[in-house]
Amino acid sequence: MSIEEKLNFKTLEWHSNHLKLIDQTLLPDKLEYIECRETNDFVQAIKKLVVRGAPAIGCTAAYGIALAAKKGENLEQTANVLKNARPTAVNLAWAVERMMKLTSTEAGGPEALEQEAIAIHNEDAEMCRRMGKNGDKLIKDDCRILTHCNAGALATGGIGTALAVIYTAKFGGKNISVWVDETRPILQGARLTAWELGRAGVPHTLICDNMAASLIGNNCVDCVITGADRIAANYDVANKIGTYNLAVLCQYHKIPFYVAAPSSTFDFECPNGQSIIIENRADKEITAVKGQVIAPKGVNVFNPAFDVTPHELVTAIITEKETIRPV
Ligand code: MRU
Repeated sequence: MSIEEKLNFKTLEWHSNHLKLIDQTLLPDKLEYIECRETNDFVQAIKKLVVRGAPAIGCTAAYGIALAAKKGENLEQTANVLKNARPTAVNLAWAVERMMKLTSTEAGGPEALEQEAIAIHNEDAEMCRRMGKNGDKLIKDDCRILTHCNAGALATGGIGTALAVIYTAKFGGKNISVWVDETRPILQGARLTAWELGRAGVPHTLICDNMAASLIGNNCVDCVITGADRIAANYDVANKIGTYNLAVLCQYHKIPFYVAAPSSTFDFECPNGQSIIIENRADKEITAVKGQVIAPKGVNVFNPAFDVTPHELVTAIITEKETIRPV
């Protein structure tokens, strides 16, 4: 049985006149789907994190453009709103630009655009498989891996980036266990990664983000693996807020800090991490948990969704092609 079959869910499913998405805001309580039929459905799904994770939002936007083309809509406008739905993950802009490049050629009709979106999705799935295989070479038997956010099948068009490495190692016969950072403020680790690993039967333990130092310091973690939203030309890595903390901890305690990301996550026009735009999200993501208010009304809030890990702290970046060692 393939890893995809073991997971047995589809984050994105194309249906020629709509895109069916798992509504990730409802997990793990309910596995429900939404259907995107209008450009605004696609934009809202990306903004509200119904679909999230750098590669998955790229695939979603590509289908959004394909559908708009079928309906004869203004593709420049569609591309613009989709591209600006979230600023940090470069896969979104990358997928939109790839689709729009095709529209400027003679072969860029609606049918070709639909095939291009399907190709972006299929290629992403293949890159995930390859990252899994490349990353597996770095994982020893009995490895205890800590991961942050969700860089799994829910975040991509395939089996994930960081989680692809974990799935490949586990289903290739290694004894693997995973520490899952809950990932405040909106708990992608607790809600999504724990759900995914549970479905796949990968042994895992959920922790609060602030427990990582103590676990690593007590020799309970062999390596950290995360995904990435954008990797600059000098290999600085933007990923979910809290990733940088982990990289610092890894260096202090001399354990590897790995990043798994496909080539669509690299932005060579961005010289370094300082030039990566970090998305700031709504205060209520911090002041409430599942609608339950947990902070005084009117409190000042700062909610950057991502941070930048300097490349000096990254032991290796696992891509579908190679394993890059930034230092
Ligand atoms: O805000 P999110 O949930 O979209 O953030 C996702 C992440 O930070 C992931 O780690 C990243 O996109 C890599 S997913 C393969």
